[in-house]
Amino acid sequence: MNDTDFVTAFAPASIGNLGVGFDMLGLAIAGTGDWVSARKSDASGVRIIEVQEMNGEVHPFLSTNADENTASIAAHSLWNATSNHCGLELIVRKGIPLQSGMGSSAASAVAAVVAVNALLDEPLPKSELLVHALAGEKFASGGLHADNVAPSLMGGLILCPQILLPDMIQLAVPEGVSSVLVHPELQVNTAESRRGLARGYSMDQWLTQQGYLAGFIAACEHNDIELLSRCLRDELIEPQRAASVPCFDEVKKAALKADALGCSLSGSGPSIFALCRDKSAPNLATAMEQACRKLGIECQSWISPLNAPGARVE
Ligand code: HSE
Repeated sequence: MNDTDFVTAFAPASIGNLGVGFDMLGLAIAGTGDWVSARKSDASGVRIIEVQEMNGEVHPFLSTNADENTASIAAHSLWNATSNHCGLELIVRKGIPLQSGMGSSAASAVAAVVAVNALLDEPLPKSELLVHALAGEKFASGGLHADNVAPSLMGGLILCPQILLPDMIQLAVPEGVSSVLVHPELQVNTAESRRGLARGYSMDQWLTQQGYLAGFIAACEHNDIELLSRCLRDELIEPQRAASVPCFDEVKKAALKADALGCSLSGSGPSIFALCRDKSAPNLATAMEQACRKLGIECQSWISPLNAPGARVE
């Protein structure tokens, strides 16, 4: 076997949760993601040949232990579900920073299943790959939520409540709206962050957040930007997580001042996103970055359309 036996797939980063819709609403991001190359091997089982950084150097933190990487766990789940008897070899290339709240573990899992699917004699429809990518994501975050995996796989804005899985619903995106995602150079461990969340909520809190989610979905369907702005809120989870991202309050303040339609943590943070009208996006990104750097925290940002494409074979 040689390098030409490899199939390579790219999967984009994602924002999930999207402020409103904890664990059930996610958005694909253009401009950054992970790659996985896969080929059949004569040995049995799934093996990771190497995990690389963007520049092709060996990744300093991620191991090649196939039991500990979301890419190999997801690949294994898909391969096991088929009648292939040979093994698999993978090379993982990470474009997304670790523990960033940008769906890094989900993107590796998604890229892996898309690459492995292309090796099958009869590839599955993309939507049927979700359950296998979720097997990888579950290992990383300790919970069964598809709000990173689903948009990374399918692209755009996806509603994917756990209760409806493996079904997921592609939502319309309002015209003229972009996302801005800022990644402060900090790390938040998602599994730990999830363990710290309250288990019980009051009826008032439940009604409020349900209302925001319903309004947000209706706003997307009806292209109603004013309604979207009223509903892009998280009164349940954001208040519990904000303190773990030291620049969050200042960055959110700067975003709202620079015409953001709404702003919240991306996933468990530390990344912070805002939605805005297309024309406001460059200034908004600058304002959010400046607020972050003013606190001595280096950062990077991405501006993305709301209908960013999902994973693809390269
Ligand atoms: N919905 C998940 C959370 C996403 O907020 O914990 C984690 O990436």
